[in-house]
Amino acid sequence: MSLASKNLLACGLFLAVAQLAQPVTGLELTVSTSGGNKSSPILYGFMFEDINHSGDGGIHSQLLQNNGFQGANPGLTAYAPIGNVSLAVDTENPLSSAITRSLKVTVPPNASGKVGFSNSGYWGIPVNEANYTNSFYIKGDYNGDVTLRLAGASSGSLYASQTISVKSNSSSYTYVETQYPVKQAPDGNNIWELTFDASKVAGKSLNFDLIQLYPPTFHDRPNGLKPEIANVLVDMKGSFLRFPGGNNLEGLTPATRWKWNETIGPLTSRPGRQGNWGYPNTDALGLNEYFLWIQDMGLTAVLGVWDGLTIGGPSPQVITGDALKPYIDDVLNELEYILGDKDTTYGKLRASHGFPDPWPLQYVEIGNEDNLNGGGPSYAERFTAFHDAIKAKYPHLTIISSTDQYLPNPKPKGIWMDWHTYSPAGELVSMFNKFDNVDRAFPYFVGEYACISLDNGTELAQPIMQGSVAEAVFMIGMERNSDVVKMAAYAPLLQQYGGYTWNDHVPNLIMFNNNPNGIVRSTSYYVQQMFSVNRGSTILPVESDGSFGPVYYVASKTSDNKTYYVKFANYGPTPQPVTVNIPKTETGRLTTLSGAATAANTWSSPNAVTPKTSNVSSADGAPGKFTITLPAWSVAVLAVE
Ligand SMILES: *[C@@H]1O[C@H](CO)[C@@H](O)[C@H](O)[C@H]1NC(C)=O
Ligand SMILES: *[C@@H]1O[C@H](CO)[C@@H](O)[C@H](O)[C@H]1NC(C)=O
Ligand SMILES: *[C@@H]1O[C@H](CO)[C@@H](O)[C@H](O)[C@H]1NC(C)=O
Ligand SMILES: *[C@@H]1O[C@H](CO)[C@@H](O)[C@H](O)[C@H]1NC(C)=O
Ligand SMILES: *[C@@H]1O[C@H](CO)[C@@H](O)[C@H](O)[C@H]1NC(C)=O
Ligand SMILES: *[C@@H]1O[C@H](CO)[C@@H](O)[C@H](O)[C@H]1NC(C)=O
Ligand SMILES: *[C@@H]1O[C@H](CO)[C@@H](O)[C@H](O)[C@H]1NC(C)=O
Ligand SMILES: *[C@@H]1O[C@H](CO)[C@@H](O)[C@H](O)[C@H]1NC(C)=O
Ligand SMILES: *[C@@H]1O[C@H](CO)[C@@H](O)[C@H](O)[C@H]1NC(C)=O
Ligand SMILES: *[C@@H]1O[C@H](CO)[C@@H](O)[C@H](O)[C@H]1NC(C)=O
Repeated sequence: MSLASKNLLACGLFLAVAQLAQPVTGLELTVSTSGGNKSSPILYGFMFEDINHSGDGGIHSQLLQNNGFQGANPGLTAYAPIGNVSLAVDTENPLSSAITRSLKVTVPPNASGKVGFSNSGYWGIPVNEANYTNSFYIKGDYNGDVTLRLAGASSGSLYASQTISVKSNSSSYTYVETQYPVKQAPDGNNIWELTFDASKVAGKSLNFDLIQLYPPTFHDRPNGLKPEIANVLVDMKGSFLRFPGGNNLEGLTPATRWKWNETIGPLTSRPGRQGNWGYPNTDALGLNEYFLWIQDMGLTAVLGVWDGLTIGGPSPQVITGDALKPYIDDVLNELEYILGDKDTTYGKLRASHGFPDPWPLQYVEIGNEDNLNGGGPSYAERFTAFHDAIKAKYPHLTIISSTDQYLPNPKPKGIWMDWHTYSPAGELVSMFNKFDNVDRAFPYFVGEYACISLDNGTELAQPIMQGSVAEAVFMIGMERNSDVVKMAAYAPLLQQYGGYTWNDHVPNLIMFNNNPNGIVRSTSYYVQQMFSVNRGSTILPVESDGSFGPVYYVASKTSDNKTYYVKFANYGPTPQPVTVNIPKTETGRLTTLSGAATAANTWSSPNAVTPKTSNVSSADGAPGKFTITLPAWSVAVLAVE
């Protein structure tokens, strides 16, 4: 029997059992106000890596693409000439030892007027009413005006124009920075332009490099995050950030792995790299910027470190044995950079970058998905080598393995284990009880999960209601076990959707483009948000007159014993009445997300499915008794006091 048909059967069975067990009045639940297990205070959070331009062109605020000609073979991506000039990628005028390529603009003899080049950003440029900061490096003899503009790519409408006077020479690069007001554009289909006086360069050329354009940033950080996207994460109230990957940590080869020491300091010293997801990474969102993100959102850091496994490149894919030694040293150096005080070698380097205080770090994950891609057989050895070296120097750190398989036997005390699943809806529902009986001594981090297909194999291009309810069922299973499941994150988090050219077959939590309000919060985003903002500190026992399915639930209370939460998922096409008894409570609210199984939030209909909140009171003469109906395909949270 195929996996898909098995799941359909299992789902049918759940429904049949539920119908037999429940009279028309529906399920009756009684929440105990005492007992239960403590819940992890950091259960819900974020997994981030640069995939689908979630970083460059995404949450990172620099708006011009290919601004330092980084990556394997960037070419002239995003650039176009203005006027009769020729553009070329030049390797003979490096800006620095890290930024080795530049843009050469050659002007024909006898040229006149304004010439230069444009940059089309990451499938457009968000142009919103604000003051933008623009900078670039220029090399070549020039003494005259330079005009910077933001304009509609097809409309030609002008949204900003700033003329500055620039004096540069051919012996070294001159840095130019300016701010200017920008008018609101109706959409994100915009380009940026730089022009100069052709007659002053006729028959010669100018070089430009590390061109940067920033709107105002989240918490006003230089080189910071885009507020429009960052605030969507703030609204979810996640507790942690796992970074910098994911597969994007791994590299195609050891040399192209994510290297912490090449993501720090001035941008001129960050070479960037060819990321694992098919495009260059600038690494402007580097190690310190991740910690600022964590600080500004009040998150807990979960740092992934490279452990010898690469993905997608030439074999061998894995480094083992003595050859690992330099990479272990590299991780110890990274940890000293993060945690060392400012008289240590790397702590001093951090201070020189403007961060005198160590960053808060408690969780370090060794590698990524080492059960996959040929990593398994050597993981016990590699994990042990990194684990022991890190614990020897930083005994207080919690070490997380990147899989629950292939671990040393016995497992080192105190480790946590990362476990991922990208599953069809029915399979996710069937994993409701996955954590019920696991060994409580070894906590889990579900570092990546999502419903990515229907049970008949149809891949989802984006979350749909049935998949989001399946995720809620799985999350209820995790929350019930949140004494042992410490953290969980949906993945992937963010998707740049200038995506008309992309053949899309992976759902993401949040989609964005460059338009004003160009954000789509998926049905799965709302599930994450509802679960994250309504968190108790103790998971409570619940008595039920029926079995789980199609209705799933978990109850909790806050540490002051005042607020009780009951989270529900109705994984089925029939509305389900439920009576909930919560002694000593009277009023509160019910938040419900529901829609047809295939309902989704899309670009054309971004608010098709949103949570609805109503006030609830317990029935007259029956304090603590709440009668609700869960709509078909729904997720709900009852919060009462
Ligand atoms: C909350 O209730 C528990 C019993 O379930 C009790 O032990 C605890 O002291 C109470 N806390 C407060 C702040 O009332
Ligand atoms: C608390 O955890 C234990 C396993 O350690 C489990 O048997 C029990 O059902 C849990 N209680 C609740 C209320 O989830
Ligand atoms: C997102 O990334 C995945 C993995 O590279 C790819 O399959 C998918 O097409 C991408 N989608 C978009 C819209 O970029
Ligand atoms: C553009 O410049 C080239 C030399 O690079 C010259 O041959 C050509 O005539 C110019 N075209 C125009 C329209 O000026
Ligand atoms: C450029 O102008 C000079 C005179 O200033 C003239 O001799 C020459 O032919 C012109 N060259 C081109 C390519 O038009
Ligand atoms: C841009 O900056 C100027 C000068 O500081 C200020 O007056 C103006 O209000 C700012 N514009 C916006 C849209 O913030
Ligand atoms: C060239 O420009 C650089 C950077 O602005 C400056 O430091 C240097 O003195 C200039 N050199 C000459 C010869 O003018
Ligand atoms: C970063 O560290 C690695 C060693 O892990 C080294 O090979 C590389 O040269 C360093 N990069 C820089 C810019 O120092
Ligand atoms: C899979 O199920 C969906 C939803 O019921 C349906 O739209 C789609 O056509 C089905 N695909 C196949 C291959 O049966
Ligand atoms: C719900 O109750 C709150 C107070 O708890 C009140 O402020 C709000 O107006 C009520 N909403 C409705 C729709 O009755």
